[in-house]
Amino acid sequence: MLSPAPKNAPLDAALFRRKLSTWYRAHARVLPWRNVTDPYRTWLSEVMLQQTRVAAVIEHYQHFLRRFPTILALALAPEAEVLASWSGLGYYRRARMLHKAAKFVTEELGGALPSTSVELRTLPGIGEYTSAAIASIAFGESIAVVDGNVERVLLRLTGRPEKRDASGRAFVQQQASALVPNRRISKRANAAGDHNQAMMELGATICLPKAPLCLNCPVYSMCRTRGEHLTPPRKVQLSRPAAYLLSLRKRGTNTEVLLQLRTEDASLMPGMYELPPLPQDSVQGREPMLRLRHAITNTNYYVQVYAPSGPQDRGLRRSVPAAKNDLHWIQTNRLATRPLTGLTRKVLQRLGVMTVHLPKLPATKTPSHPA
Ligand code: ADE
Repeated sequence: MLSPAPKNAPLDAALFRRKLSTWYRAHARVLPWRNVTDPYRTWLSEVMLQQTRVAAVIEHYQHFLRRFPTILALALAPEAEVLASWSGLGYYRRARMLHKAAKFVTEELGGALPSTSVELRTLPGIGEYTSAAIASIAFGESIAVVDGNVERVLLRLTGRPEKRDASGRAFVQQQASALVPNRRISKRANAAGDHNQAMMELGATICLPKAPLCLNCPVYSMCRTRGEHLTPPRKVQLSRPAAYLLSLRKRGTNTEVLLQLRTEDASLMPGMYELPPLPQDSVQGREPMLRLRHAITNTNYYVQVYAPSGPQDRGLRRSVPAAKNDLHWIQTNRLATRPLTGLTRKVLQRLGVMTVHLPKLPATKTPSHPA
């Protein structure tokens, strides 16, 4: 077995790039936003990929592009429809900012996305990471992209302990910049973009946080730590109970579900629909029709969904603290076009309520009272 790279030897950047690029060409996952030529697609994928699993992004990316195939189509859409297509991805601020930026590009920039990282950063919702990713992947700019995966790769490679302060970030940025190919000396136009994607891919598929697959790593011989790296413990996961009401009614051939609109000044997910939340004391001793766990950042929500047990059961409905005008009966065959919170979408899909056709009603009888 090779011994780890010596502590003080500088990294051979050209050798590193060659090894990484050979590996990437052979092993890159086939993903729908790879090898695309439309910068809008790169932009969309990079925004969606922030803090979100690749599998969830694949599902939403395709759907989003069918609904909003161009920057112009996105700019012209009402915000509620953009949020509806984002439902399930979480971090809805990203969708609002994407929409705002699409409007700005359409109204002020003649519809074309700027091509440099400096200009991209002036758009709403585009920060250091996204501007570098779009500029390098879509336009070939020689600029390093640093996300959590790249940071872990570089800290392990160099043997530097993780430090979440300015000097730690500057170190990682400087290492990343030293490795990114310089466009002028490279034969291929997208060398920097491919390199950045390869760095992220290495972190996502080989240099894993808990159990890195060092024996499959293309730069194993250059690594100072071989996966032995001090990573500060993750934030503790909090557990919270949450109870919701599922109330359905028939109107002619349509079925409607009662949803609560979160107010525009809510700090989280303003303007989105959710099942009406119930206070914990109102559900004591009742049996939920559905239990599920829903993780958001560092909190696990233990969710229980309750349905009134029959037309006479008004008690549960009366426990909803929401103001009457925040409650809305929404046709179940229109749910796909409404901005639902990810949890609401998950619950309604799990219960078969959210389908285009007439949904299968849960086993309980439907109440007939108005909202
Ligand atoms: N994570 C975020 N963007 C990525 C990309 N373009 N390739 C691989 N992983 C990523």
